[in-house]
Amino acid sequence: GLPEYVKIVEVGPRDGLQNEKVIVPTDIKIEFINQLSQTGLSVIEVTSFVSSRWVPQMADHTEVMKGIHQYPGVRYPVLTPNLQGFHRAVAAGATEISVFGAASESFSKKNINCSIEESMEKFEEVVKSARHMNIPARGYVSCALGCPYEGSITPQKVTEVSKRLYGMGCYEISLGDTIGVGTPGSMKKLLESVMKELPPGALAVHCHDTYGQALANILTALQMGINVVDSAVSGLGGCPYAKGASGNVATEDLIYMLNGLGLNTGVNLHKVMEAGDYICKAVNKTTNSKVARASFSV
Ligand code: HMG
Ligand code: MG
Repeated sequence: GLPEYVKIVEVGPRDGLQNEKVIVPTDIKIEFINQLSQTGLSVIEVTSFVSSRWVPQMADHTEVMKGIHQYPGVRYPVLTPNLQGFHRAVAAGATEISVFGAASESFSKKNINCSIEESMEKFEEVVKSARHMNIPARGYVSCALGCPYEGSITPQKVTEVSKRLYGMGCYEISLGDTIGVGTPGSMKKLLESVMKELPPGALAVHCHDTYGQALANILTALQMGINVVDSAVSGLGGCPYAKGASGNVATEDLIYMLNGLGLNTGVNLHKVMEAGDYICKAVNKTTNSKVARASFSV
């Protein structure tokens, strides 16, 4: 059966904006996040404490983190690839972090400049330091349903990396379909494998919509007992180190589907559409959310 409540992890300010060519002004990011904070969302991924040479769009991480209003009941995780990023994140006021690994060696090298094994050693240090400070850590596994460099990735490999991240203390593992190539068939096989090792309550799905399969893949995951879903308002998103990857599933479209299924999210669709409209106008883009397009055209 389907879960009654689905937790949405809004990744728009981070995944959504990291790939934008034109640098989005810091005050616009802050206003965007503040608007999202008033929609009922309980988790908003704010920024990444990565190298500004690698991802220039996230260079203002400290200013964004310090500039946002932290609303009660909302959590504001940030990406931290190593101890350097972790210490900067904490100094900026972060109280929740995510480490981000991959199930593909080639992607790991291209994205974070080290092997999977080396990344796990760095993440262990980060998660250990986080634990000492009572900072919850989430873990991502990219390329869970395919890699832009290696093609198909086995569920066994994804399971192995997920288990490693969970074992080191990540409370939740987000399975990333980085390039949106998965289908309900491959999602089902993946989850069957991962759920042999990890409880469904420790898993999330993070679907990019490159091939138009994201909502179908998410529904498959919900039917298998997953109740945490990552999405980005307006369907923004993409990874600079995964060429051809398009946006995340749009938060508006996800909420529309969940509302239709009678599942509770606690999130107000109309308010999310307003935040989406704000950021699209600010970055001069048309929305990738079909629901927003349909609603604003009437
Ligand atoms: P590196 O060059 O191997 O790092 O980069 P290093 O440790 O050798 O240090 C080299 C320089 O980087 C030094 O500076 C360090 O200080 C600096 P220099 O002395 O040369 O001036 N440095 C840092 N600066 C700021 N913050 C840091 C940091 N660490 C070192 N944390 C590194 C390694 C991980 C930093 C680099 O590869 C990087 O920043 N990668 C970013 C990758 C990224 O952000 N990708 C997008 C997010 S992942 C994603 O989108 C997928 C996801 O959405 C899920 C999915 O869809 O599948 C999560
Ligand atoms: Mg992503």
